[in-house]
Amino acid sequence: MKKADKNPCKLSESGARAALQSYNIEKRMVYCDTVTSTFDKLKEFEPCEGLTVLAAHQTAGVGRLGRSWKSTEGGIYFSFLLLPPLNADTAPFITLICAVGVYRALSRYTECKIKWPNDIVSGGRKLCGILSKTNLCENEVKSVSVGIGVNANITDFGDDLPNASSLKLMCGKDIDENRLFAEIMHEIDKAYYLTEQSTILNEYKKACVTLNREVMVHFNGKDTGERGLCTDILADGSLNVLIDGKTINVNYGEVSVRGIYGYI
Ligand code: BTN
Repeated sequence: MKKADKNPCKLSESGARAALQSYNIEKRMVYCDTVTSTFDKLKEFEPCEGLTVLAAHQTAGVGRLGRSWKSTEGGIYFSFLLLPPLNADTAPFITLICAVGVYRALSRYTECKIKWPNDIVSGGRKLCGILSKTNLCENEVKSVSVGIGVNANITDFGDDLPNASSLKLMCGKDIDENRLFAEIMHEIDKAYYLTEQSTILNEYKKACVTLNREVMVHFNGKDTGERGLCTDILADGSLNVLIDGKTINVNYGEVSVRGIYGYI
């Protein structure tokens, strides 16, 4: 018996393939036990819509804002490629679509929310991160690579990640990683191919813990920032924040939300 067969909850090539139920995304899935980053592996193949790399472990997982992403076994790590008919201004909408898809899937396991732009949080801690990379040629989008890391069965985050949690910790039971991967892909697939943009935006706003909350906008990656009220989320994925009576638009960077990740 192979190692992966011993525990049916563990991510495996056969388990993930058997669970898949999507329409379009991951038409071509490549499974690897270990990669540096699923983004690196994705680049090794001929680009095609829905090409997906899934891994049980990454040695150099990357997160937003140049951070690293803890990628030990017990997590689910995947990147997929989209070739959307979008220009540079509308491409950020893909981030919203993916956040809504993951949110729909994880909501079946535990109560959760989206923290702008695309963290999925539960009990004030992070369960999942999403990173999209847009490949532009002039103002045209050639492709978008989306990378998703889900803390499924990780139970020890060490002292350096006090704001992380996992579905296993939230639900108090082992999570079937193959099934979870398939459910996330199915929801992203439905959100991407079948759902109206206005529906996605409304759903994102309803699920977003940042909207209508006191926030701190960290300019230039600084720990400190300016406090304000998040008053809206726009179709391009940016935030409006009211600071000292003036609305500013934030489309990148770090925005802390009062009550989440220890911000008080
Ligand atoms: C974040 O910082 O919140 C985004 C984290 C994205 C992590 C995923 S894991 C799969 C893919 N490969 C990577 O190296 N990063 C993304």
